[in-house]
Amino acid sequence: MTAATSFSGIQACVFDAYGTLFDVHSAVARHRQRLGDSADALSALWRNKQLEYSWLRSLMGRHADFWQVTREALKYACDTFAIEDDALIDDLLNAYLRLACYPEVPDTLRRLRQQGMKLAILSNGSPEMLKAALDSAGLTDLLDACLSVEDVGIYKPAPQVYQLAVDRLQVPAGAISFQSSNSWDAAGAASFGFRVAWINRFGQRRDRLPAGPHAELTDLQGFPALLGL
Ligand code: LAC
Repeated sequence: MTAATSFSGIQACVFDAYGTLFDVHSAVARHRQRLGDSADALSALWRNKQLEYSWLRSLMGRHADFWQVTREALKYACDTFAIEDDALIDDLLNAYLRLACYPEVPDTLRRLRQQGMKLAILSNGSPEMLKAALDSAGLTDLLDACLSVEDVGIYKPAPQVYQLAVDRLQVPAGAISFQSSNSWDAAGAASFGFRVAWINRFGQRRDRLPAGPHAELTDLQGFPALLGL
């Protein structure tokens, strides 16, 4: 199947949030001067631990919402870099509620919507976190639905999470196009049955997992063309 045939007949576009629409490293970037040389390494470790904790909690059957997971991952990262300034730690965590979106995101969503596409977010984020980030980036009115794993109590890439989009949007999996910059999320979504575009923003290598994306783009700008729009 070519990318063009994979993406024919799509009725809904579902987006991952963190890393795909929102730049997770923009939280640390806001406070870069207070962090000095460790800023980028701290941001990378924070993100990696956040994801690792989400997978581990899912395997352990010990779900806690993404705000708690994000806070615990930040604490781990700050301990690693000997950051003890509580005010700075609070500011970093709260910056997660006002993440920058990637520059091409608003226009892309607008274009898709003008073509009558149903648009949704499907994210690990808690409803409160997602609402704050969407409001702050001015994206709220561009989406039909904002779906959170909190409704199923387990994190991606558990199939129950992707099923949430099918159930809520009332669109079959094969007519949903899912976009994520996280290659493991792209693999999980493809394994579930979505048509998947991997937004490979960070020039990463393809993962060796049992399923993979149907198309690869470097950002979302060329995505409407993939759908023939
Ligand atoms: C999300 C994580 C994967 O938004 O970044 O679901």
